[in-house]
This record gives sequence, C-alpha cells and structure tokens, in this order.
Amino acid sequence: MSRPAVVIGNWKMNMKIKETVDFIVKLPSMLSQSQGRVCLSVPSTLLKVASDASRGTEIEIGSQNVSQFESGAYTGEVSTTMIQDSGGQFTLIGHSERRMFYHEDDEMIKEKVYRAILGGLAPVLCVGETQEQKESGQTEKVLLNQLEKAMGSLNENEASAVIVAYEPVWAIGTGHAATPEIAQEVHSVIRGFIREKWGEKNAFRTPILYGGSVNPDTIKELIKMPDIDGALVGGASLNVESFAKIVNISRETKS
Ligand code: PGA
Repeated sequence: MSRPAVVIGNWKMNMKIKETVDFIVKLPSMLSQSQGRVCLSVPSTLLKVASDASRGTEIEIGSQNVSQFESGAYTGEVSTTMIQDSGGQFTLIGHSERRMFYHEDDEMIKEKVYRAILGGLAPVLCVGETQEQKESGQTEKVLLNQLEKAMGSLNENEASAVIVAYEPVWAIGTGHAATPEIAQEVHSVIRGFIREKWGEKNAFRTPILYGGSVNPDTIKELIKMPDIDGALVGGASLNVESFAKIVNISRETKS
C-alpha cells in the first residue's frame, strides 16, 4: 500500500484575481483520474476568490503564512479564523523565505504550527538546510532540530495533522533540485523522526513532500522514491500546464 501523492503549488507573491480564476477553471479537466491531492497555496488576497472558483472541484486552497495569535492588535497579520472564513484549509508554515526575510524563528514557527492545528488548519511545516549547512555535513542535525522545535511537543493526534515539506534552501528557485537519492535519504530521516516520536501509524500516514526546483522533468525520478510523497512547487506552479503535469506524474507514479 502506498500513500497518495500530495502536490501543493506555492504561488508566493504572484498572481492576481483574473489569473487565479483562469488557472482554477482550467486545471480540473487537465488532471488525471488517479488518486491524489492537489492544493494551491495562494496569497491572502486570493484566498476567497480561489476557494470560490475551486468549489465543487478537488482543488484544496490554503495560505502561505498564518499568525501565531488568535486575533487582536497585530497589524498586517492574518489569523486561522480569517483564512478559514475565506475558504482556506491549510497553511504553509516556516517557509525558508519567511525564516530568512521575516526572521521567523523556531519558537514562532512552533507557535504557528500549534495555532494552525488549534484553528483547524492543516500545517504544512517547511524545513530545510542552507548550502553552508549542507557543505559542513550538518543537514541531518539541522533538520532534526527544526522538526523537534516546531512539532516535538505535539501529541500524537496533533502531530497527525502535520504535512512536512523538505525544502533544501540551496535548491529553491535555483534550477538545481536535490538528487532523488539525497532527497530520499533526508525524507527517510524525517519519517524516522515521526516514527520515533509518535509511532509507525503516524509515520506511515504523514505526507512528506519535497520542494526546490520541482518541474515536470525533475519530478519524474524524485517521485519514484519511497519516502517522497509529493511536492511543494514554486515557480512551476504558476503555469497551469506545467503544474498539471507535475500533479499527474506524481499521481500516476504513486497509484
Ligand atoms: P521553486 O520553489 O519550486 O521555485 O524552487 C519551491 C518553494 O519555495 O516552495
């Protein structure tokens, strides 16, 4: 038995209302019938229009960030309730661009993961090492530390809501995806962490996605790896044809 593929498009700070509707109207008829989840992580301004446009389809809509607070005087922030009110079902948390440019640290990421679960949003927890950390042989240590800090204190039930995305920082937007062998090795470390903390059932059920220069070519070999359950796709998710191809290749390989 294998896990169904999960592919999430991360639009980052791109797309407007009309482009969003066009994309979502086109996508469903381009998808193969094989089993799998297809999700779009959109800018907050597009949550409502994207979820309205995808109603009645299999497309799931989520945000790219969430506040660690419930509500109140936090200018510029978006809460779990607001995301859900706009039709969002999940949220990315701890993307390396958030860690880098907005100084999100492990403590904040932990609070966001917990807040998302409490608020009924599935957290897609992003972890990954930098080029420097990779070169000094610290990949495993860095990842285990990020995982422990962000989700280590969750109970079994809470942990089962989490989707993990391994995104090596050196592979994001560079055109150089991790080799399938390197990614598999890291994914199996992540699954091992989950197994050790919450047992085999959670380890088996948790989707672990790879992200970083995924496109219709690089996905082919990556998705064959046993512990790679899907992808978090940046640049290639902005084009509906290439995104549909990535979803279809992933689904067909995993089913
Ligand atoms: P990329 O981005 O596919 O453009 O490399 C992935 C991500 O940052 O989620």
